[in-house]
Amino acid sequence: MEKPYVYVTRRVPEEALIPLREYAEVNVWPKEEEPVPLQVLLEEAKKADGLFTMLSDQIDAELIEQAPKLKVVANLAVGFDNIDVEAASKHGIAVCNTPDVLTDTTADLTFALLMATGRRIVESAEYIKDGKWKNWGPLLLAGTDIHHKTIGIVGMGRIGSAVAKRASGFDMNILYYNRSRKEDVEKALDATYTPFDELIEMSDYIVCLAPLTDETKNMFTENVFKRMKPSAIFINASRGGVVDEEALTKALAEKEIAGAGLDVFKEEPIGADHPLLQFRNVVALPHIGSASVETRYDMAKLASRNIVNVLRGERPEALLNEEIF
Ligand code: NAP
Ligand code: GLV
Ligand code: GLV
Repeated sequence: MEKPYVYVTRRVPEEALIPLREYAEVNVWPKEEEPVPLQVLLEEAKKADGLFTMLSDQIDAELIEQAPKLKVVANLAVGFDNIDVEAASKHGIAVCNTPDVLTDTTADLTFALLMATGRRIVESAEYIKDGKWKNWGPLLLAGTDIHHKTIGIVGMGRIGSAVAKRASGFDMNILYYNRSRKEDVEKALDATYTPFDELIEMSDYIVCLAPLTDETKNMFTENVFKRMKPSAIFINASRGGVVDEEALTKALAEKEIAGAGLDVFKEEPIGADHPLLQFRNVVALPHIGSASVETRYDMAKLASRNIVNVLRGERPEALLNEEIF
């Protein structure tokens, strides 16, 4: 029997592809940092039984309609806003992601970003490397505290809850807003469900970990930033699209908030001339939430297993469109 054909849209750790190569003929776009050109992706999708994709690949209805053999799309990410899941379901294509394996790693990074922004760590590190440190000073590079402050988590899912656990260790007061109540987290971490409008007014740190959907798109508007405390720090580790970036730029320029820590942007990658990079009180990272070597290996292995499972007619571990099976 002819082996199924799987296309991998970026070079990933070869070790993770071993089970996939045993089962399928595998072709890999050979670059690690350069995405596959759309034309190549479309050509590959036409013949593929499975696609192993990155969050930077747009798997839209147009691609799906031109992929007659496609049975599974496995994204190397927990977020799946780059995939038209409805179109995939319509064509009987399973869509898979990589939940759980990246939860703690992403929560670590999110909390590190919060700390880096609050305590001006990047700015301080640049200060010393630039040879600017002449003397110790009582308020030299003084930031704002983290312990005993109020954190407001928007999107209390797997990663949001893991961030709450870290916040609890820092004696923070934990507020959260989520589509549904999370009574387990309320009990375990003494977190308080708070309507969005109140949360943004009460929090010292507002941390977004809600997925990008039609409902959450641009949820952080000009009006939302205006209602935050002038001392508030905004942290975004979900997707850039949840923020009106022009509104955030304006809020920072007019000192309506005290700073922002951003791991994600509306259009990635961004260049050094991006308006949000002009502020000393912005800590910007190139979407590295889940980027530990261990976790990236685990994610790649899970994506491979998801593909093999679907091609074997088995239910994959991380299926987004339940109706397929
Ligand atoms: P998750 O477990 O599905 O958590 C998402 C949470 O957001 C859920 O609790 C969900 O509520 C809530 N939510 C959904 N729509 C909402 C809305 N309109 N208003 C309020 N809350 C809403 O996902 P996760 O594993 O924690 O991942 C969360 C997101 O983080 C991903 O979607 C991805 O965009 C981002 N992420 C970023 C990085 C990075 O590198 N920066 C890494 C990993 C993930 P329900 O419980 O009611 O469904
Ligand atoms: C990364 O951003 C992910 O969604 O896994
Ligand atoms: C600072 O280093 C101190 O000793 O307080």
